[in-house]
Amino acid sequence: MPFIRLFMNLLYPFAKRFIAGPDLKTAIPNIRKIKESGYFSSIDILGESVSTRQQAETAKMEYLKLFESLDSINHSFDFSIKLSQLGLGIDREFCAENLRQLAEAMGNHTIRLDMEGSAYTQGTLEICEAVHRTHPHIGQAIQAYLFRSKNDVRHCIENKISVRLCKGAYKEPSDIALQSMDEIRTNFLELAYQLLKEGHQPAIATHDESLLVKLLDFITQEKIAPESFYFEMLYGVRRDLQKILKEKGYRVRVYIPYGKAWLPYTLRRLVEKKENLLFVITHLFRETLGLRKLH
Ligand code: FDA
Repeated sequence: MPFIRLFMNLLYPFAKRFIAGPDLKTAIPNIRKIKESGYFSSIDILGESVSTRQQAETAKMEYLKLFESLDSINHSFDFSIKLSQLGLGIDREFCAENLRQLAEAMGNHTIRLDMEGSAYTQGTLEICEAVHRTHPHIGQAIQAYLFRSKNDVRHCIENKISVRLCKGAYKEPSDIALQSMDEIRTNFLELAYQLLKEGHQPAIATHDESLLVKLLDFITQEKIAPESFYFEMLYGVRRDLQKILKEKGYRVRVYIPYGKAWLPYTLRRLVEKKENLLFVITHLFRETLGLRKLH
């Protein structure tokens, strides 16, 4: 597959900004740096939609290895995981069992389930709830663009499941998801206000300044305690905002992905901002046409 290799080589300089490294050894110093700068972290081993049980087992083993390596850093890490990485697309009970084993091994560390495309929404929520009954440190990401999320947030609050609220990064059809950014923002705020008042250690995951300004006003007006929630942002995105929120005394958690399966994650980041696309195209031209200042 020389074309795919070439494409990945060209994209990697862009990907590097968003991932802590292609493997654990490279990622550890970056994870350590985030911790030493006063941030919390949620670590994600990149990978999704595995098609064999062996791949799901391998993903589980990688999380266990990561957990062992981080134990020596002595810090309260969270872990983020996609259930399609643990075999949700293969067999639900097999996937739930994999998650249970991870939850058991990771003790009090929170494992937060990323929310993937809508084909996985119901399955993810059901497994989350089932495993949460015996392992209360399982949390769940909820996407503000889905119509169903209002009910899902309510359900998580009632069951004391910690929610990470994000806008949603997949292309979803108009019969199940809001399409306009204004509507998504409005729904995000409504859900965030509810989580801040009633949620169980929720994480408000956005880099959207217009939302953050409104959220900070709400937090002040409603006297929401800074230790009752987290702001959460992606590794390499809006470090300026991460720093400002931290300096204001809020807890900021950085979502840190690493691993060799960085392509789907990077492509989602790529389409979120037109400047990203421009960066990649410029880089591509510079490399292929040899437009370098240094010779
Ligand atoms: P918005 O896209 O409006 O961005 C606001 C500003 O942030 C931009 O103007 C830009 O400055 C900066 N920015 C945002 N994205 C950027 C990028 N890719 N490159 C450079 N700058 C960028 N989604 C999902 O479907 N399931 C999930 O489980 C998660 N999990 C998750 C965890 C965390 C911690 C975060 C922050 C986000 C997610 N997401 C997610 C992704 C989320 O749904 C959404 O796609 C992105 O966060 C972008 O939306 P914003 O709210 O940040 O606003």
